[in-house]
Amino acid sequence: MGSRSASMHGMWSSRAVFIMATVGSAVGLGNIWKFPYITGEYGGGAFVVVYLICIALIGVPIMMAEILLGRRGRASPIATMKRLTREQHSSPLWTLVGYSGVLAGFLILSFYSVIAGWALAYVFDSAAGGLNGITADGAGQKFGDLVGSWQTLLLWHTVFTLMTIVVVARGVKNGLERAVTVLMPALFIMLLIMVGYAFIEGDFARGFGFLFNTDFSKVFQLCTGTPEALNCEFTGEPVVVAMGHAFFTLSLGMGAIMAYGAYVPDHASITGATLTIALADTVVALLAGLAIFPIVFASGLEPSSGPGLIFQTLPIAFGNMPGGQWFGTLFFVLLVFAAWSSSISIIEPAVAWLVDSRGWTRGVAAFAVGGLAWLIGIGSVLSFNLWSGEEYQLFGKTIFDLKDFLASNIMLPLGGLLIALFVGFGAGRQMALEELSISRQRLFDAWWFVIRFVSPVGIVIVFLNSIKAFG
Ligand code: PFF
Repeated sequence: MGSRSASMHGMWSSRAVFIMATVGSAVGLGNIWKFPYITGEYGGGAFVVVYLICIALIGVPIMMAEILLGRRGRASPIATMKRLTREQHSSPLWTLVGYSGVLAGFLILSFYSVIAGWALAYVFDSAAGGLNGITADGAGQKFGDLVGSWQTLLLWHTVFTLMTIVVVARGVKNGLERAVTVLMPALFIMLLIMVGYAFIEGDFARGFGFLFNTDFSKVFQLCTGTPEALNCEFTGEPVVVAMGHAFFTLSLGMGAIMAYGAYVPDHASITGATLTIALADTVVALLAGLAIFPIVFASGLEPSSGPGLIFQTLPIAFGNMPGGQWFGTLFFVLLVFAAWSSSISIIEPAVAWLVDSRGWTRGVAAFAVGGLAWLIGIGSVLSFNLWSGEEYQLFGKTIFDLKDFLASNIMLPLGGLLIALFVGFGAGRQMALEELSISRQRLFDAWWFVIRFVSPVGIVIVFLNSIKAFG
């Protein structure tokens, strides 16, 4: 087992590398694929505001808590929680957070790799000129053809899972980290250019309004349709989804950030790192929204067209801009890298646990965990074709939707709730004080209040509200 100041899995060489890796984990399909499509499904502005509130009041404080637990425990999330419950003389039941995180990781990777597979398919299609001059109908048709073929989806799902396994087997800190330092800023610049394109060629005013005009009366309603013809019904679902997405996009509630926190140097500031990571993540999501919705409206598409949204809109932009063939290829390559640097963190908790508590080698652990996620992922592949029919759905959701809903909207927030309660009540104030080493007492007190009361109560209220609405 590692000592107090070093993890047996290795350490980040500096705080900057930790921030880069964690931004790599946070920024991924959640920002560029999921944020726009769920914002479209849940009606725009009101949803975005709830999401931003969740990031600030729940996400940021819990990210600080996860990093501090990781650094204190210096092991896989399960071993860390075991160690800290002993150190803090609290109930071993808190270790459940670690186990539920491992489970959530399997569920998430099992659909994440399928969507990353779509991006891989578009890399090759774009490079071959498949998007040149494409119309909105053509883009819809192309996407439909892709997801309609389970063989193609299975192929790319397999390729992406293997990519994830290979990097995790070699250790998270080698190789990919260096690549991410260059590729993340490149993705950022690319998004800025896409926003520029949307500004000139899209219906920017409408896209902007859709994202930022907040009609609070709709916050607790589920609205579908276009802004002119909205069809709304009362339900707590959008709020649950907005909160779930705050966890998903920041990689919180399942130990991924705790696992990365275990490799953080002793004296690095956790607060500063957290704010940087949360800000970068939020800006990328908003830019993605600004790039996509103006094209959605200019092309007469439905904002609520679901998981295919970016794959049906961005190709229209690439297909009709000068140099779009290469620009589009590069964009999808960068999207794949963003997904790759996230997927490795999704299985890191499980792999690190098999290594430090079960004595497996990293290679075998990575193959076992990735292999199982791959197997469960076949259900996600089939959700878009053979098993898309109603007879294969539960509560009106396909296997893909169910896995996403269960993991993102239920397991991650519950994991986050337990983490907040453990730090705030299960362990002592002294532990947090030592790890955060915030020099300004007031700032620490504010965080301490938020982590003990505001974040947990917020999570509970959102859940109760949805139970009321569903019931
Ligand atoms: N944060 C990633 C994204 O936005 O794409 C997804 C993710 C990574 C979720 C790691 C959970 C996790 F532990």
